[in-house]
Amino acid sequence: MAAGAGTAVTVGAAGWSHLTGASTGQILASRGPLPEPFGVPLPVPPLARPVRSERGADVYDVEQREGRVEILPGRKTTVWGYDGIFPGPTFAARSGRRTVLQVRNNLTVPTVTHLHGGVTPPESDGYPTDLLLPAVRCSTGQPRQTHHGMAAGHGGRRAFGCRSYVYPLPQRAATLWYHDHRMDFSAPQVWRGLAGFFLIGDEEEDQLPLPGGDRDIPLMLCDRSFDEDGSFRYPAHDHDAFPDGVLGDVQLVNGAPWPALEVSATRYRFRLLNASHARRYRLRLEAEGGRAGRFVQIGSDGGLLAAPRPHTTLDLAPGERFDVVIDFADHPIGSRITLRNTAGEGAMRDVMRFHVVRKARDDSRIPARLSASFEQLTPSSAMPVRVFDFRRTTTGDDDRQMWTINGRPFSTDAVLASPRLGSVERWRFSSDFHHPVHVHLAQFQVLARGGRPPAAADAGWKDTVDVRPYEVVEALVRFDGYKGRYMLHCHNLEHEDMAMMANFQVI
Ligand code: C2O
Ligand code: CU
Ligand code: CU
Repeated sequence: MAAGAGTAVTVGAAGWSHLTGASTGQILASRGPLPEPFGVPLPVPPLARPVRSERGADVYDVEQREGRVEILPGRKTTVWGYDGIFPGPTFAARSGRRTVLQVRNNLTVPTVTHLHGGVTPPESDGYPTDLLLPAVRCSTGQPRQTHHGMAAGHGGRRAFGCRSYVYPLPQRAATLWYHDHRMDFSAPQVWRGLAGFFLIGDEEEDQLPLPGGDRDIPLMLCDRSFDEDGSFRYPAHDHDAFPDGVLGDVQLVNGAPWPALEVSATRYRFRLLNASHARRYRLRLEAEGGRAGRFVQIGSDGGLLAAPRPHTTLDLAPGERFDVVIDFADHPIGSRITLRNTAGEGAMRDVMRFHVVRKARDDSRIPARLSASFEQLTPSSAMPVRVFDFRRTTTGDDDRQMWTINGRPFSTDAVLASPRLGSVERWRFSSDFHHPVHVHLAQFQVLARGGRPPAAADAGWKDTVDVRPYEVVEALVRFDGYKGRYMLHCHNLEHEDMAMMANFQVI
């Protein structure tokens, strides 16, 4: 384990060589025994129920609070959860129908809720300084000095106890997620459980004969580390001890360690989300005897692809979603199919297992054409080009490491780009390390990766893209929805908290 990597140092040649490797963070080892893989059933987060449905809107009450849950068999973990659970409840919303989350903060720390992938008005987007302070004030809720010398919350739209996030959802059916976004503390607060699914449906998708009901399952992949008593382990406040990012040594799917799911020999739709802080996945389905299974990708971050795409491996960077269909009729009854992460190490090479237990009727299909409304963007020389360089910087006086964009750590005042509402721009992301780049509000299509055509996993509308060491990714970004201040940032949550964020202003 990498606990010795504590003090910030200038990154010399030795440091750079590890930056170019496959590793995207440092392992924080658990204490105490870890469970055997595939011993617990896969949980599926419950659906949230509105407290009120009005014409055109569904209103939900959400309480952020501590909960005691059993993640490791026989031990209890205190989570900070939406409604006290981890993952939080799944919201099932509809395109164009307003969803209102009335969030009450019954934790002891400020929070910020962000709908990742949402086309959301700026005042509800979960800007990192728009704090929701605890309903009961307590000492840990005080503003404190941050990495960039600003009191967290300065200049933000603060609320005490309760606030409403309003999501009009002028966007296609897609798999979104919501999570904490508090300035400098996103990583520790998401680690403790503040994350959940938010699904948007629409008529176009309803028409498709895709697997549905209990054969449409969201899978939240994330890694965590635990202490002997079952509590989550995370580096104490100073993330500087883990500048690259924190990797857990327990693989969770929907909050359960290396779970198993009994399936019928039919098609299933899985909405894969990489909710890890720093871990990348290269997923592969492995039947007994090592035979590879197949994923048919039907959607990306921003909803349905124009047409399905088969994959034998799928790369997921933090924040990305892949909507896939797996057909278990390809495997005999009784088979066990393991979802593996070939980018992982040791036990982290296993993710979960499917056990094909019965035959069943299957009326589902994957149509050759998924979305007629999918619009492929093409570049034009009239499009503004902007460059965003994601890089580690060591600051002067104390040799403190920062993750920066265009050489600058995050400042609430600096605006790096001012795109026009309704326009498409050509954005270039370059990097020195693995940086999953995420843009709020706007969705984009990958145009090129490393000067070549996009990778297989880059297809469709996206809001997050994996930018690998010394690589340039070009994207066509469309600014739809609202004017106002939004942000782009690295979705490695430790990098994000260490200032790798920037503002853009839609005008
Ligand atoms: Cu999923 Cu700004 O984040
Ligand atoms: Cu986001
Ligand atoms: Cu990063």
